[in-house]
Amino acid sequence: MNTTAERAVPEKPLATQILKVNHAGEHGAVNIYRGQAFICRWRAPELISQLLEFKTHEEGHRAHFAKHLAIRSVRRCRSYHFCGLGGLVLGIITGLFGRSAVAATTVAVEKVVLRHLEHQIIQLGPTDPEACEVVKKIVEEEKVHHDSAELELQQGPFWPRILIPIVAGSTELVIWLGMKL
Ligand SMILES: [Fe+2]
Ligand SMILES: [Fe+2]
Repeated sequence: MNTTAERAVPEKPLATQILKVNHAGEHGAVNIYRGQAFICRWRAPELISQLLEFKTHEEGHRAHFAKHLAIRSVRRCRSYHFCGLGGLVLGIITGLFGRSAVAATTVAVEKVVLRHLEHQIIQLGPTDPEACEVVKKIVEEEKVHHDSAELELQQGPFWPRILIPIVAGSTELVIWLGMKL
């Protein structure tokens, strides 16, 4: 018969889980912008330079979390490749719908991301100040992505706003799954 000690599953520290999920999420974000930039070559060429600039930011965020996972000797999240593939598919599909759909996607994703970052900072502040600083470092750039897309969306047609709850819900689901894996 198993004892309680034998049955116990080791606790995953919250900071580790957060850094892993954020790292996988940044991989997804890189691929959203990659997919959108690829399709926008013919769908909305005027967006390419900004999409590539945002992609560079996301690559920096991904490298930032990868570095801190390595420092803590933690392997990447099991959701990493799922996030990458999901991001690419989302980027390609929304890119096909054009300029306003691209902006709606960024608003939806970044809104969820910013809310999670804020919550993570509150959680990590008293328990792991070092991890808290790691998370804080990306907030400003995520705000820039959100705010510039929000501005773009206000000037476009109304229908792409329908995408916001769908994309936001999918982003929430991916983060939830990542925290469980
Ligand atoms: Fe990011
Ligand atoms: Fe971003």
